[in-house]
Amino acid sequence: MRIILPFILTLFLFSCKQNTSEKSQKAYVHPSVKTKIVDKAGVVCANPYAAEAGNSILLKGGNAIDAAITTQFALAVTFPLGGNIGGGGFMVIRLNDGQTDALDYREMAPSSATKDMYLDAQGNFLDSLSRYGGFASGVPGSVAGMVEAHAKYGSLPFVDLVAPAIKLAQEGYPITQLEANRLNKSKRIIQAFNRAPVAFVKEHPWQAGDTLRQPDLAATLTLIAQNGRDGFYKGKIAQAIVDEMKATNGIISLQDLADYKAIWRKPVQGYYRDYQVISMPPPSSGGVTLMQLLETVENFNLDTMKMHSVDAMHLMVEAERRVYADRATHLGDSDFYPVPMEGLLDSSYIHARMPTIPARATPSQEVKAGHPKEKEHEQTTHFSVVDPFGNAVATTTTINSLYGSKVVVKGGGFFMNNEMDDFSAKPGVPNQFGLIGNEANAIAPGKRMLSSMTPTIIAKDGKWLMVLGSPGGSTIITSVFQTVVNVTEFGKSGSEAVAAGRFHHQWRPDTIFIEKNVFNNSVLDALRSKGHVIVERSNIGAVDAIFRTPKGKIELVADPRWDDGVAGE
Ligand code: DON
Repeated sequence: MRIILPFILTLFLFSCKQNTSEKSQKAYVHPSVKTKIVDKAGVVCANPYAAEAGNSILLKGGNAIDAAITTQFALAVTFPLGGNIGGGGFMVIRLNDGQTDALDYREMAPSSATKDMYLDAQGNFLDSLSRYGGFASGVPGSVAGMVEAHAKYGSLPFVDLVAPAIKLAQEGYPITQLEANRLNKSKRIIQAFNRAPVAFVKEHPWQAGDTLRQPDLAATLTLIAQNGRDGFYKGKIAQAIVDEMKATNGIISLQDLADYKAIWRKPVQGYYRDYQVISMPPPSSGGVTLMQLLETVENFNLDTMKMHSVDAMHLMVEAERRVYADRATHLGDSDFYPVPMEGLLDSSYIHARMPTIPARATPSQEVKAGHPKEKEHEQTTHFSVVDPFGNAVATTTTINSLYGSKVVVKGGGFFMNNEMDDFSAKPGVPNQFGLIGNEANAIAPGKRMLSSMTPTIIAKDGKWLMVLGSPGGSTIITSVFQTVVNVTEFGKSGSEAVAAGRFHHQWRPDTIFIEKNVFNNSVLDALRSKGHVIVERSNIGAVDAIFRTPKGKIELVADPRWDDGVAGE
């Protein structure tokens, strides 16, 4: 018995443990709805609780901008790896009367940043410095952005728009398996960059259904709700950010925070066939690059080809390598560098870059940036919202890498971004997304780093037709491009267009990246025999989109690849 008892006890404990974990796994059902057809309005974003939060504002009579502000703050709670107040983003707006606007709340290089700050004495790029710890952070823009969006377009009181996020942070929300895996995998690196205990790290591994509560973040959001931008860029939180920077090798100062401004910009707008494209201008490359891609393929009857066929993929890849070469040379923050916007968007320039479809893959080393006409002085998580009044908002927002710089502001409860890695730290040397750049995107104090974020609205017949965008670094633009043409050229429904496999080429490296187990082997062999190099990888992008169906209904589509969700009526 003396031997048997411990044995039985062990068996008992083991079976209890099994039961509890099985129970918690069975009991927990994530409320994620991937696709929903609605009549009036809705929100699609990276987390279903944030989608519900945004939708609650629409149900209260708020407009799409109000709901977008709520969704952004709710994502700061329920999507800590990417939704943020320690980061920045872009918002593209189309009002029901056809007016458009674009808000730039991108992070900005601190005033003491220098061009060579990530190079050692021999001129080598030290990429870990631009990716981890306080030195990797730009001055965050999200809070200024939301306050600015509210001042210009909001209809409900700001404090009401932040309230759902405060509740989610105080009461917590059940995390998914994917979130649990990510938090468990990142535990050591988050611990390495933080002095204080943080809400994201616990002793035992996270499990699906565990509640993530963030009391520090709830207190920060309460200060923002009460005091607007001063609740973040001045006082207690500003001081906490600067203290955290000092402790982690960062250089953001109180003055940098006080000086931060969100900026209204003129959206990139153009026509692709009879579709009006409205997207983000610099400091994002998204709008210009998307417009160039669409205009390049417009010449070649993509609609007569089949989605994922050799001809369609070859054409799209050849377009991609040319426009990404332009991106690397000509695009940067237009407040600091004379981006030749008109030249880059000129149809005859775009068509001349690829007058015919090359028979074989053009090696990228033979493709150089073009010479658009110069005109002086011109210049990670996406969510989509539409309201019952006909307004539409596309927002993409980021802290750059998973959990940003990994640094959580002590007492503030939020991750700081590592957006400085989006600058070109050294000409021709790739960043974490393999993107290379040049003078246009060199670091300078107060400058905004070039982005690929592509919040986009497509309009037709005087109404919005699609509202979309994606995270995914350099693959954002191609994910948006493919989703658009999947509908307009290949006749797919919104949900088919989002679910379809994705591929990506960005000029350098000279490789087509494809999602695993999606593409037909005979198509891949035919592309290889044309000279293309193909590499499989995991999921590309996370397109959260809204479509107007041919019957005039509203199709809310969350990317099925992840935990994203929809809410609407
Ligand atoms: O602004 C950009 O282009 C990047 N910082 C976006 C990062 C991103 O999408 C990461 N998400 N997977």
